Amino acid sequence: MAFFLVVFVVTFGLCILSTALFRWNDIVYSKKGLPPGTMGWPIFGETTQFLKQGPSFMKNQRARYGNFFKSHLLGSLTIVSMDPELNGYILTNESKGLVPGYPQSMLDILGKCNIAAVHGASHKHMRGAILSLISSSMIRDQMLPKIDEFMRSHLSNWEDNVIDIQEKTKQMAFLSSLKQIAGFASSSIAEIMLGFSKLVLGTISLPINLPTTNYHCGFQARKYFVSLLRKLIEDRRASKEIQQDMLGFMMNEEANRYKLTDEEIIDQIITILYSGYETVSTTSMMAVKYLHDHPTALEELRKEHLAIREKKRPEDPIDYNDYKAMRFTRAVILETSRLATVVNGVLRKTTQDMELNGKSVWDKSRVR
Ligand code: HEM
Repeated sequence: MAFFLVVFVVTFGLCILSTALFRWNDIVYSKKGLPPGTMGWPIFGETTQFLKQGPSFMKNQRARYGNFFKSHLLGSLTIVSMDPELNGYILTNESKGLVPGYPQSMLDILGKCNIAAVHGASHKHMRGAILSLISSSMIRDQMLPKIDEFMRSHLSNWEDNVIDIQEKTKQMAFLSSLKQIAGFASSSIAEIMLGFSKLVLGTISLPINLPTTNYHCGFQARKYFVSLLRKLIEDRRASKEIQQDMLGFMMNEEANRYKLTDEEIIDQIITILYSGYETVSTTSMMAVKYLHDHPTALEELRKEHLAIREKKRPEDPIDYNDYKAMRFTRAVILETSRLATVVNGVLRKTTQDMELNGKSVWDKSRVR
């Protein structure tokens, strides 16, 4: 009898504790005016469901609560807006109480100088520094020849083989960026790619620094990249040779009017690698899929490219004029970007209470 009583009390106690824990976030974040939604467990919130279910999580919550709901994701109170009016307002009112608001894990792993972590004048400076890397002369003289050379070698052994396009487009995005950024031709590419995939995983995780967490592994991967890049910068400085790549341009104090410290350079490089990875690989993969699904478009694309190649010898590279002549190809890229929507949203943080049409933007009655 005593045993059953203990089991009953323990079970009852656990039920009360779980209910209290489950309600904890709801109570802590029960600020007036927040939209409806669920907040999940303390610290974890609804992160596990969000990461496991992906877009279905958003669809389910939208079906329950409408275009505008609250949640607790990646360690922060989050308000998801699929409300076009509010989204328009947010995107046109940058700097008036709204700043980029990426998760803590992303800020920690991409570095405190990365463009998403800095605001105001520093953000403008970093944006200028990054944009100067992709000026039209840079694209024409540096990027295009390197992409041409890289793609020839990347595609060289595809014939008669079964190709995993998802894997190949990921390699393509990562290795071609690495070549543009720091002319890497390292023997440890496999190790670098593995480190990078850990870094990416860590940026979309709960910021809990325990040995087995994705955040911890991502942070270790960041340390690896920082030491790799620091060594590269030191070696280049010692050799006094100016390399024709993005790192070379950032380090070149005479040609580059955006003076960056080594720490800033390292964070920008990690950010550029990161920003161009999933976006470019997924867009390229989807372009292959859509072209496969639309043979007439594929035929048109082939015609355009064969017409350009006809005027060249096989070893001649594609030049800027050829690129400009690819009208149909550029339309395919644009349409793929539109259809594939590889970026599902942007994240912003409010620094003050905000009003729209005379009401707090969080006011439920404001939302249709
Ligand atoms: C299909 C390819 C791409 C797509 C769809 C894409 C999409 C986006 C979007 C939606 C944003 C805005 C994020 C926000 O406002 O919070 C953004 C910002 C950014 N992207 Fe991309 N991107 C692509 C490729 C790249 C590449 C290749 C790079 C690297 C060179 C890059 C670097 C950046 C940077 C540095 C920012 C931050 C700009 C700022 O805060 O001022 N992106 N991108």
